[in-house]
Amino acid sequence: MATLATKLAPPPTKEHVSVARLARYWYAACRSRDLHRKPQARTVIGVPLVLFRDAAGRAGALLDRCPHRNIPLSMGRIAASGNLECGYHGWQFDGEGRCRLVPGLQGSENGEARGRRVAAHATRERDGFVWVWGEPDVEPACEPPAFAAAPGPGYATIVRVLDFPGTLHATAENALDVPHTAFLHRGLFRGSGERNEIRAVVRRGPDRVEAEYIGEPRPEGFLGRLLAPQGGVVEHWDRFVLPSIAQVEYRLGSENHLLVTSLCTPLDDFTTRMYAVVAFRLRLPTALIRPLVTPLAMRVLRQDAAVLRAQTETVRRFGGEQFVSTEIDLLGPHIWRLLRDAEAGSLPAADGTGELAVVREVRFQA
Ligand code: FES
Ligand SMILES: [Fe+2]
Repeated sequence: MATLATKLAPPPTKEHVSVARLARYWYAACRSRDLHRKPQARTVIGVPLVLFRDAAGRAGALLDRCPHRNIPLSMGRIAASGNLECGYHGWQFDGEGRCRLVPGLQGSENGEARGRRVAAHATRERDGFVWVWGEPDVEPACEPPAFAAAPGPGYATIVRVLDFPGTLHATAENALDVPHTAFLHRGLFRGSGERNEIRAVVRRGPDRVEAEYIGEPRPEGFLGRLLAPQGGVVEHWDRFVLPSIAQVEYRLGSENHLLVTSLCTPLDDFTTRMYAVVAFRLRLPTALIRPLVTPLAMRVLRQDAAVLRAQTETVRRFGGEQFVSTEIDLLGPHIWRLLRDAEAGSLPAADGTGELAVVREVRFQA
């Protein structure tokens, strides 16, 4: 007979939580248009940063803490000099974090001094985003990824920003997970009609994993019908690229192309900001797509955010996670392996051109 003690023992759970902290990568920290006259507070992989545009229009990213008295520099303002001015005593810093002025201090003691420097993160502006390198005071050897750009002329683009209460791994898996769409988003995207057999091929490269779905009929939910009213078979890829890009691509014939690129920036271990860049070229007029598709897509994303919140709360309540995967959890385990290996530094440096090798073929119902 079980004792009271065994009855009350918590269910077995690994203490492990799939959190990887990857500093040596570029992250989207804000949209370029967010940087006007006011400094902006942003957190990237747990590091509080202040972003601002200097006199030359360059984006700067400094640790959001004045070295003088620990005031967030984001509470300050941009001085006429173009430097970032602390709101407490007015020390001024340039985009490289050098102190340029200590108001009231006489003579040669003023300005630059090593102890007055603020840690600075390299920045780049590309495709409408300010990208920040995760490690301070380093000049990166590579450039930010080109994924946020429209794939060519004739595409319309919609950008939406949403915070997901989940780890980077959980958020990226969710963005690329097909089986949940028939349940969590029932009727919106899939799940309103017959389930169909689909073949999927999973391919791995040094910095990425992707699934190609072959023979997939146009999804039967409302969004699927809207995007491909004539029906037919779609070409579909889901891909994850280190450290934080989740991309879903649909093609229907030569005319219809939809590319949803989610730049997932971990704010901290359990919050991931998603910059969703939706680029599309469809037979339907863009003027129709925006008002019809955007609210539905946002509803889908809010359903995902709610489920990620519940997942995160459950992992925390149980003191760790439990993952039991089957072969139709196509990408989640690969995403975790990529993140874990990158954190351990055991992946070869990726230049985005590495060969993809088939690692699995699966048939399933979706
Ligand atoms: S706290 Fe920033 S200048 Fe004093
Ligand atoms: Fe979803």
